[in-house]
Amino acid sequence: MIPELVGIGVGPGDPDLLTVAAVRELDTAGRVFVPVIDPGTPGRAEAVVRAHVGHDRIERLVFALSDDVTGPQQRRLQCWDDAAARVAGQLRSAGGTAAFATLGDPAVYSTFTYLAAGVRAALPGMRVRTIPGITAMQAAASAAGATLVEGAETLTLLPLARDLSELDAALATGGAVVAYKGGRRLSELRNRIEAAGALSRAWCAEHLGTADERVAALADVEAASYLSTVLVLPVRQGRGAQL
Ligand SMILES: C[S@@+](CC[C@H](N)C(=O)[O-])C[C@H]1O[C@@H](n2cnc3c(N)ncnc32)[C@H](O)[C@@H]1O
Repeated sequence: MIPELVGIGVGPGDPDLLTVAAVRELDTAGRVFVPVIDPGTPGRAEAVVRAHVGHDRIERLVFALSDDVTGPQQRRLQCWDDAAARVAGQLRSAGGTAAFATLGDPAVYSTFTYLAAGVRAALPGMRVRTIPGITAMQAAASAAGATLVEGAETLTLLPLARDLSELDAALATGGAVVAYKGGRRLSELRNRIEAAGALSRAWCAEHLGTADERVAALADVEAASYLSTVLVLPVRQGRGAQL
């Protein structure tokens, strides 16, 4: 069997939002790698995995998940390299399947992309697969009791870790706007949404699927963490008006 790495989306944090396919892969993988910030502390992806898996073939890989992207990036790059070397070493020695559990979906702003590139470079003949997961934006819409898009409405997903430069143009489309990674800039984000006349249609969802979950109208939220998602819903005139 060709050695393979499977990126498994474990959803936003609630163990109930893991797919049956993900559970099956996690159960049978030779090793399940989980991303952590600190090697001594379990991360959220690990908590979801452990809620379903009885075996102990779970191994932590350290990533600079909470480092500011505007600062020096050497540590982030070193973590990617070290993690890829470890996973490649596992596949080289044991073969079979290695799984990597990632929050949300592995194809949406996930560390899995960088890990897979590094492992592929070290082991060119290997296979890479993914198991999709429920994204934070889907879970946020559900928690807010909102429809994200209907009819011909558009959806813009923005990563706002660096700045808010793309936000005004996205709001001007009149479609739904989802902001990831903008929690640390929440007051600026809120001011810009208010200036666009969209504050009454905006939600903030933080720590979804965990005991700290908070979902509220953005107008009522003063500050939030990195693990928060802001939704701005489109203006809606009535049933089917956007068709
Ligand atoms: C690196 S991206 C990961 C996205 C993830 N792969 C997905 O499919 O949703 C991190 C951003 O996702 C959002 N996010 C992830 N998990 C979340 C959660 N449990 N609650 C709220 N937002 C979350 C936040 O905006 C956070 O800054």
